Amino acid sequence: MEIAIITGTSSGLGKEFLKQIYDRYSCLDEIWIISRRESKLFDIKKSIEKENGPVIIPMALDLTDEDSCLLLSDKLNRQKPNIRVLINNAGCGVIGDVLDADYKAQANMVDINVRALTVITTLVLKYMKPGKTEGTKTYPFIINVCSIASFAPNPRMSVYCSTKAYVMSYTKALNYELKSRFGKNRINVLAVCPGPMRTEFLEVAGIAPGTSKTFDILPYCIPEKVAQKAVKRAEKGKTVYTPRLLYKIYRIVAKILPHNWIMPVSKT
Ligand SMILES: NC(=O)c1ccc[n+]([C@@H]2O[C@H](COP(=O)([O-])OP(=O)(O)OC[C@H]3O[C@@H](n4cnc5c(N)ncnc54)[C@H](OP(=O)(O)O)[C@@H]3O)[C@@H](O)[C@H]2O)c1
Repeated sequence: MEIAIITGTSSGLGKEFLKQIYDRYSCLDEIWIISRRESKLFDIKKSIEKENGPVIIPMALDLTDEDSCLLLSDKLNRQKPNIRVLINNAGCGVIGDVLDADYKAQANMVDINVRALTVITTLVLKYMKPGKTEGTKTYPFIINVCSIASFAPNPRMSVYCSTKAYVMSYTKALNYELKSRFGKNRINVLAVCPGPMRTEFLEVAGIAPGTSKTFDILPYCIPEKVAQKAVKRAEKGKTVYTPRLLYKIYRIVAKILPHNWIMPVSKT
């Protein structure tokens, strides 16, 4: 059984990734979609699923909860699927100084953005076979949803940008490991680094208009386009994809200039 797994599929970018994978990989048997809000997952299944396409399997799991990870691990061990695509998209951010923060909200960002992504990747990799298979366009791939926040520290989103820096580093190192082990027809791993997007992320993060100068002036990315291009880049074997020219330039600038110079600008 060939499948794809997408986390954080109940809204925003994850929902767009599901649409892309559903249309591009009609040869899959199932797409497992994971988020906490079950009713949203079922609504999305209803709106996307076609008669002859892959079956969408909603899984209402809180990925910060160890029992949810065990449940996923058990399902994988029982069904032993051939996983062609993994998209680690579930994540959240919170704006504000660490001094004023609730420790649970800060730890929750680490749990979902870092811990869950690491656990799921480790579990899923055991069921990914390198190389192309019949009816499949490309070798298997993993997309880790990162952010422009990974390029340099963002004061007032200190924990969030640190979690995304982890995602970037983990993606590059894992991709190198897989390339060394399997060569060209490997399993590709890509980090996609969008700038701000108008999704539920902003509400969850506490970013209303007027609360952050940076979020007020930065150009926004369109989730549909981000998902579409990220999938194409992953299929081509790229490691990092940054949408929009401005953010591509920012990525280079953040590599060259001392971060002490960048932080007054990257402060959210
Ligand atoms: N929007 C932006 O400005 C922006 C910019 C750069 C990067 N990103 C990244 O893009 C990714 C997607 O975010 P988005 O913008 O699409 O925001 P979103 O609409 O809030 O989506 C976040 C998704 O993650 C899921 N999720 C959150 N906590 C979870 C948990 N504990 N267990 C399982 N699922 C969980 C949410 O579903 P439930 O609530 O149903 O669990 C939701 O489906 C995130 O990794 C985010 O860091 C966003």
